[in-house]
Amino acid sequence: MSLNQTPPLKKIRLGILVSGRGSNLKAIFQAIESGELSQVEIATVISNRPSAQGLLYAEEKGLNTTVFRPKLFPHREAYDQALLDYLKQQGIDLVILAGYSRIITPVLIQAFPQRILNIHPSLLPAYGGKGMLGMAVHEAVIAAGEKESGCTVHVVTEDVDAGPILGQRYVPVQPDDTSERLAEKVLAQEHSLYPEIISRVAAALLNQPKGVTVQ
Ligand code: GRF
Repeated sequence: MSLNQTPPLKKIRLGILVSGRGSNLKAIFQAIESGELSQVEIATVISNRPSAQGLLYAEEKGLNTTVFRPKLFPHREAYDQALLDYLKQQGIDLVILAGYSRIITPVLIQAFPQRILNIHPSLLPAYGGKGMLGMAVHEAVIAAGEKESGCTVHVVTEDVDAGPILGQRYVPVQPDDTSERLAEKVLAQEHSLYPEIISRVAAALLNQPKGVTVQ
């Protein structure tokens, strides 16, 4: 390299895990394309479901994709070990759960301390934990007559949906909101919150490669 050439800037390599629709993956991809999320690159998109829409979207966009089929593994730990080996091989810095339906085991969590993020469609700690998935969350919020809901990005720890919170967005619940309408409004907020938090975490990782300081 000649003296006046600057080396390419290091980017945080994301491994994005999807199981379904993939609208958060799309929002992250678009934020990278628009330059709003400049410190990261999507190194791989992984799914447990070959037919996940998110996986098909990633393929369309020419991203590197892989499927890990649960039935090929004897138990969750073996599955997560294979996932971990692959993430390491791909040089992944940060794991992004974007509508990933499997509970992650300590095998993966301990290998990526504070480097696995999740987005959840409620104001955690409310309406989180086992069984609080997808529409069940919004139905519970409406049934309880809550005046507001929202979404949360948090660090993944061994306690489901209970890791340190990195950011939240509030959504007012109107008296005539259905769970479907509320889901749409919350999802729209997810699409701006997730890229914003990923950007913040990536910046922290670039400044401090040995770990993210959760604030
Ligand atoms: C989102 O509501 C997210 O909060 C939850 O799963 C859903 C995924 O949606 N964890 P999508 O697949 O990103 O469209």
